[in-house]
Amino acid sequence: MSIAGIILTSGSGLAADTPATATSSQEALMDRGKAIVQQAFDLLSTNLATALKNGGISNALPYCSVAAAPLTKMTGDIRQVTLKRVTHKPRNLTNRASKQELAVIRRFQNALDQGTTPTSVLVTNELNKVTFLAPIVIQNELCLQCHGRPGQELKSETLNLVRSLYPKDEATGFKMGDLRGMWRVDFP
Ligand code: HEC
Repeated sequence: MSIAGIILTSGSGLAADTPATATSSQEALMDRGKAIVQQAFDLLSTNLATALKNGGISNALPYCSVAAAPLTKMTGDIRQVTLKRVTHKPRNLTNRASKQELAVIRRFQNALDQGTTPTSVLVTNELNKVTFLAPIVIQNELCLQCHGRPGQELKSETLNLVRSLYPKDEATGFKMGDLRGMWRVDFP
């Protein structure tokens, strides 16, 4: 099963704080970042689909609650990077974007607001560590069953379940095409 929940495009979208000309090693890291994110996304999607099949939303929601973070971390461990999802509107508060991350999310949002596709970026910090950031855009109606608008795609019984698991949830009210957050890959 394939759920297209992210837009990934390559190439031009380097961060301002990296050199203007992409070196071949940067291109390689960009490709690796994309592959890692795709792998994690596929793993999460497959597991979500199975949980849905086995018991609907009332099973899949608590399943995501316990499995999403470990599956993400596991993919990072296998690929020898640190992998996580961060967002401006967290469900799990540990996924709340930092100030710096929010600046990148804002850039992705600006691209969307202008009707363009946000592109993944590589950022190099002062210690020469490279981070790959990829926008997560909602492209599948399925996502809205747990992240959509209350009373519309998000049923009240689902919302109750969300609130019981995440009393401080901010991750509802999304529509198709909305920015949900981003993937963050830190290379060693
Ligand atoms: C069955 C309900 C369900 C569906 C369907 C679902 N999610 Fe989630 N989502 C969750 C839960 C629960 C969490 C919190 C996981 C945790 O605690 O680690 C979450 C967390 C996230 C996060 C991490 C940031 C945060 O807010 O904690 C992102 C990004 C995300 N979902 C995107 C998506 C996308 C994109 C789709 C569609 C492909 C989707 N979700 C479909 C329930 C769902």
